[in-house]
Amino acid sequence: MRTHFCGLVDDALIGQIVTLCGWADVARNMGQIVFIDLRDHEGIVQVVAEPADIDGNADMLAAAAAVGYEDCLRITGTVRRRQSVNDRIKTGQVEVVATRIELLNKAEPLPFHHHENPGEDIRLKYRYLDLRSPEMQRKMRTRTKLVSALRHYLDARGFQDIETPILTKATPEGARDFLVPARMHPGEFYALPQSPQLFKQILMMAGFDRYYQIARCFRDEALRADRQLEFTQLDMEFAWVAERDVQDLTEDMVRHVFREVVGVELAAQFPRMTWAEAMRRYGSDKPDLRIALELVDVAELVKDCEFAVFTGAANDPNGRVAALRIPGGAALSRKQIDEYAAHAAKYGAKGLAYAKIDEAGAVNSPVAKFFAEGAFETVLRHVGAGNGDLVFFGAGGYNKVSDFMGAVRLKAGKDFNLVAEGWAPLWVTDFPMFEWDEEEQRYVALHHPFTAPAVDSIDDLRANARTAVSRGYDMVLNGNEIGGGSIRIHRPQMQAAVFDLLGIGADEQRAKFGFLLDALKYGAPPHGGIAFGIDRIAALMAGTESIRDVIAFPKTTGAQCLMTDAPSPIADAQLAEVHVQVRPQA
Ligand code: AMO
Ligand code: AMP
Repeated sequence: MRTHFCGLVDDALIGQIVTLCGWADVARNMGQIVFIDLRDHEGIVQVVAEPADIDGNADMLAAAAAVGYEDCLRITGTVRRRQSVNDRIKTGQVEVVATRIELLNKAEPLPFHHHENPGEDIRLKYRYLDLRSPEMQRKMRTRTKLVSALRHYLDARGFQDIETPILTKATPEGARDFLVPARMHPGEFYALPQSPQLFKQILMMAGFDRYYQIARCFRDEALRADRQLEFTQLDMEFAWVAERDVQDLTEDMVRHVFREVVGVELAAQFPRMTWAEAMRRYGSDKPDLRIALELVDVAELVKDCEFAVFTGAANDPNGRVAALRIPGGAALSRKQIDEYAAHAAKYGAKGLAYAKIDEAGAVNSPVAKFFAEGAFETVLRHVGAGNGDLVFFGAGGYNKVSDFMGAVRLKAGKDFNLVAEGWAPLWVTDFPMFEWDEEEQRYVALHHPFTAPAVDSIDDLRANARTAVSRGYDMVLNGNEIGGGSIRIHRPQMQAAVFDLLGIGADEQRAKFGFLLDALKYGAPPHGGIAFGIDRIAALMAGTESIRDVIAFPKTTGAQCLMTDAPSPIADAQLAEVHVQVRPQA
C-alpha cells in the first residue's frame, strides 16, 4: 500500500514520488493551500495540497479540505524541501506535495484527540486512540526494546526459554490467588500462577541448568502505580549456584540492557546493603539512594525525657525513635507540617513530632517541653540540625517507625528538590526469613516459603526463627524494587521445617506442596534465581511514574479494564457449566 513510512521521509528523497499511509494528525486549511500532518508509527510528515498539483491533475484542495482528525489516508506526492524548516520533527526539512489523496476510512468526531489529556479514565476507555500518540508509541517501543535486549543477552548465554502452565496449583507469593473453576472437576479450581516459582525450581531438578521466561504473573492484590493484577516478569533460575553467581550475571544483564535500550551507563558495581542497614538508614527495603537524607536513631538521647511516646519506644527492644533532618525545612508552614503528619499516618504513624529551628536559632517544637534544660538541644545537635532546618521525629515499633519515616524521607526529598539526577541501583541482601503476623499470630515468609535460610541447621533455624536471615536479595533502582530472588531450599527436610514454622502442617504440606517435597527427594541440586519486573524496568527506562504507561491494556486502580468493561457478570447457564453459584451480595 505504501512506499515509505511518514516519519522516515527525509532530504534523500527530495524530488521523488512517495506513497504514504497514515492518520491525519492535524489539517490546517489556509484557503489557497491546505497542510495535513500525516502520522504513522514512525512519526509525522507535512503534506501540502495546492490548488492544482504539479502535474496539473485534479484539484487536491477539495480532497484535503474534507480531511478531519484521525481520518485514515493514503497519499501520493512529491517530496520537496520545506520553506520553513520545523526542527521539532524528524522530517522537518521536507514536505510532500500531494498528487493523490485517498480517504481509506473516515473517523467520526473523536472523544478526545491525543494532543489533549482528557484524564486517564477516558484514555483507558479509548485506549486505541491514546496509544496512537507519539508519546505512548515511544513508551511501548521502549518496552519492546527492553524485552528484545533481555532475550538476546540470555539466549547468548545458554539460558533456555521454557513455558510453564497458567492453569495450575497455587504458588504463594504473598497475594490472593485468581481462581478458575474446573468444569471437568466439579467444585475444584485451578489457580493462576502468582509466579512460575515452583515450576522453575522443578526445571532445575529436571536438569535444565539455566532457565528464563518472560512470564505473566497474576496476583489479586491492591493496585498502585507500580502494581497490576497481571504483570510481566523476566523469570530466571540457575542450578548449582550461590548468591553471587545469580547476582553477578543479572547485574551485568541489567547494565547491558540499560546501555542498549536507553544509552545509560549504570555503576560498574552496584552497591550492596543489608536489609537491616537499609531500614536503619533509609526506613525502606528499597531505598532511593538519589536522596541523601538519612534517618538518625535518637533513642539513647530521649529515653529519659518526659514524653511517654518517646520513652516507651526508646526503652522497648523492638522499638525505635528516629529523627530526620530536613535542611531548610524551617520554611514549612504549620499546614505543610500537618501534611507530612497526614502522609506519615498513611503508613501507620500515630503522630509526627517536629522541631523547627529558625534562622536566628530559636527552637519551636511541641515536644521540647518534655526535655530537661539543654537535653533537646543535644538531640538536635546529634542530628546535625542547624539554623533554618526542620527535624521530624518518629517513635513506636521498629518496622512501623522505619516505614513511616522512610515515607516522610521520600516526600521531603521530592518537596525540597533533593532527588539527585541519575541512576542509583543497589542490591539489598540478608532479609529476615520470617515476619511475625500479629493478627494471625504466626510467622509469614518475607520473600516466599521456598527461600533458603542463611543457616544450614534446622535446629538453629527453629531456635532463632524470629531473627533468622534468609538468602534472599532484591535489586533496587531509584527507590523501585525491580527484581527479587533467592537461593532456594533444596533439601526436603529443611523445606518441611520451614513449612512447619509457617504454620503449614503435615497434611496441608502434602496437599499443597507434595509434588515439590517429592521432587526434592530425588537429587535436587542447589539452585537459586530471581525475577525482574519488566513493567517496572520499562517504566523507569521510559521515564514514567506509572507502569500503566508501558502496558498496552492495563487495569485501573479499581481493578477494571475500562475498554472491555472486564470484569463482567456471567450468565447463569455458563456458571452452571462450571458448577459455580454466585452468592447474593450482603
Ligand atoms: P517477587 O514477588 O519479588 O518475586 O516479584 C519479582 C518482581 O516482580 C515485580 N512485581 C510486580 N510488578 C508489577 N505488579 C505487581 N503486582 C508486581 N509484583 C511483583 C517486582 C518484583 O521485584 N518468584 C519470585 C522470584 C524469585 O524468587 O525468583 C517472585 O515472584 O519488580
Ligand atoms: P501530643 O502530646 O499527643 O499532642 O503529641 C505531641 C507531639 O508528638 C505531636 O507533634 C505529635 O504529632 C507527636 N507524636 C505523637 N505520637 C508520636 C509518635 N508515635 N511518633 C512521633 N511523634 C509523635
